[in-house]
Amino acid sequence: MPVRLLTLGLPADTLKEAVLTGLSGQPKRIPPKYFYDGEGSRLFEAICRQPEYYLTRAETALLQAEAEAIARCIGTVACMIEPGAGCCAKARLLLGKLEAASYWPVDISGEALSEAASRLSAEHPALDVTAVHLDFTAADGFAPLLPHLPATGRRLVYYPGSSIGNAGLAEAVALLKAFRTLAGADGGLLIGFDLKKEPARLHAAYNDAAGVTAAFNRNLLVRMNHELGADFRPDGFDHYAFYNPAEGRIEMHLVSRVRQQVTVAGVAVMFEAGESLHTENSYKYTPQEFDALAKEAGFAREAGWRDGEGLFAVQYYV
Ligand code: AVI
Repeated sequence: MPVRLLTLGLPADTLKEAVLTGLSGQPKRIPPKYFYDGEGSRLFEAICRQPEYYLTRAETALLQAEAEAIARCIGTVACMIEPGAGCCAKARLLLGKLEAASYWPVDISGEALSEAASRLSAEHPALDVTAVHLDFTAADGFAPLLPHLPATGRRLVYYPGSSIGNAGLAEAVALLKAFRTLAGADGGLLIGFDLKKEPARLHAAYNDAAGVTAAFNRNLLVRMNHELGADFRPDGFDHYAFYNPAEGRIEMHLVSRVRQQVTVAGVAVMFEAGESLHTENSYKYTPQEFDALAKEAGFAREAGWRDGEGLFAVQYYV
């Protein structure tokens, strides 16, 4: 079946708006969604192959081991919607077992998405695939997509990869509420998140020995140089990632090595020596903490699974 491409809604903001707002605040920050230009996406895939970054391997092993049990628990669904689907790799692990008639991968990057959706469609010729190019972080969320979804049958929202961890707590509840609306009253949510564990293990995952996470973090500066005519010297900033136990999150920063002035989109920005640009949070949860967040959005847990080492969780909510 040919893949349909739907381009919907407007972007939440542009790189320039987000950067100028973020660099004028205190502390300076840039939203993590701007990591993912072509090079950033390539570096993220390389992070997922690093021995210290257990998240992707643990979730994949879990899904491979439990796909049948998960599908049985979810029951009959007409469609599966995957926000932030990227290369659709994790959908492959479920689609064969679920027997959904249609698959709706949603992503901010339309081009990469339609290529991935076409490859997946070739592997599942009977599946009706619609690639949705939408920035669901915009104020109206999934509203532009709702009229396009099948009018009958249950919907499954699938959000693997611990992407929910990159949202702040209020932002995570808002996103879960948007998933509730998207799933509908009789639908469900299958979501993957990273579990709280000993800080040393978390620290290693975001400070790999090969320096791939550091390159991913610094690539944000390179991106601003390319796209906003900025003059950051990437080697003038240190990659600094640590587990903050009070907040239950990994924090990633770029710390200025010296006092320096940078020009970004024609605006002068001053960095003091040791001043940080906060680039990402990655929240870690216990299963019960995640239940409490999901409850605020109107979801109740039906089932949950962990990988063999107990590092990562996938939970199903209705
Ligand atoms: C995409 N996200 C779940 C990753 C994470 O672990 O928070 C992004 C990442 N940042 C550094 N390494 C990986």
